[in-house]
Amino acid sequence: MDRAHDLEHPGRRRPSRRVGPALVVAAVLTLAGCSGGSPSTLDPGGTGAARIADLWWVLFWISAAVFAEVMVLLVWALVFRRGRDTRVRHGQPLRFVAIAGAGVPLVILVVVYALGLRDLAALGAGPGRDAPTIEVTGHKWWWEVRVPGIDGATANELHIPVGERVRVRLRTADVLHSFWVPQLMPKTDLIAGEMRETWLHAERAGTYRGQCAEYCGTQHAHMALQVIAEPRSQFEAWLARLAAPARQPTTEAERRGQQAFVQGSCAGCHAIRGTGADARVGPDLSDVGSRWSIGAGAVPNDAGHLGGWIVNPQTVKPGSYMPPQPVDAQRLPDLIAYLRSLE
Ligand code: CUA
Repeated sequence: MDRAHDLEHPGRRRPSRRVGPALVVAAVLTLAGCSGGSPSTLDPGGTGAARIADLWWVLFWISAAVFAEVMVLLVWALVFRRGRDTRVRHGQPLRFVAIAGAGVPLVILVVVYALGLRDLAALGAGPGRDAPTIEVTGHKWWWEVRVPGIDGATANELHIPVGERVRVRLRTADVLHSFWVPQLMPKTDLIAGEMRETWLHAERAGTYRGQCAEYCGTQHAHMALQVIAEPRSQFEAWLARLAAPARQPTTEAERRGQQAFVQGSCAGCHAIRGTGADARVGPDLSDVGSRWSIGAGAVPNDAGHLGGWIVNPQTVKPGSYMPPQPVDAQRLPDLIAYLRSLE
């Protein structure tokens, strides 16, 4: 039937019947992505993202109003003006075109531009001189986190005190990356050879997911981080942990694991404070047992995944710079026990 119809009217092919349901599914999936725990800019946790969300809603409602107006005029023209004489008389339609086609858009653009400039200035203002500072360096494919004046480092996780603005200095060790914590602040690109600066502010305590937002190679998607906003006292405890040596082994297995770590190939790339291992090629592992993930969001941080990661990171995060480790099968449980104990 459809075929016959198409043959009769070759220029008027009807859209496939699958297009309608496909559009509905796409819309549902898109909207589902906006809720349910995703780190949406429209669910701001602090003043930076709140500005972006407010601006977004202004733009949304202006677009909705313009769309509605155009639809009303379209229906009016198609239904009520059909067949009428539409020749220009007394210059009236021209005046209408000038107002609706130039005057209204001009007002809208000027207002939106002014709002954009206002928010740009507010986001660029930065924190005060005494604000806490955190240094974040982008690597393929993980985030190194340091605090000026403190020797230690951690990875893919940074803490900030609730209700305070925190300065974040950004560098890259290799290619372009972009630091983005959607619920706290718009993204800031990390540019080779430059130090960029942004700030974070969270109004409520919680964990905010961040993500590299500039394509930087194979594992760009697995370059996530977490920002943990907590009361000032807990933030200071985190600073103290960063400055202190790592936890010492308490069991025989952990002791053997530490020995395997320091004497084996691990120490060639990683540091654990208070042991002989102090290399800076890969992430500092002094608190690896308490981290939220392995491989910057690649897999959960538990004993099974850690074992798999040590033996062959390439099956977990292909392209990662960590090579497979020839660890003695008898030593692997010790190594896992030791690393899991580092909190
Ligand atoms: Cu780093 Cu994308």
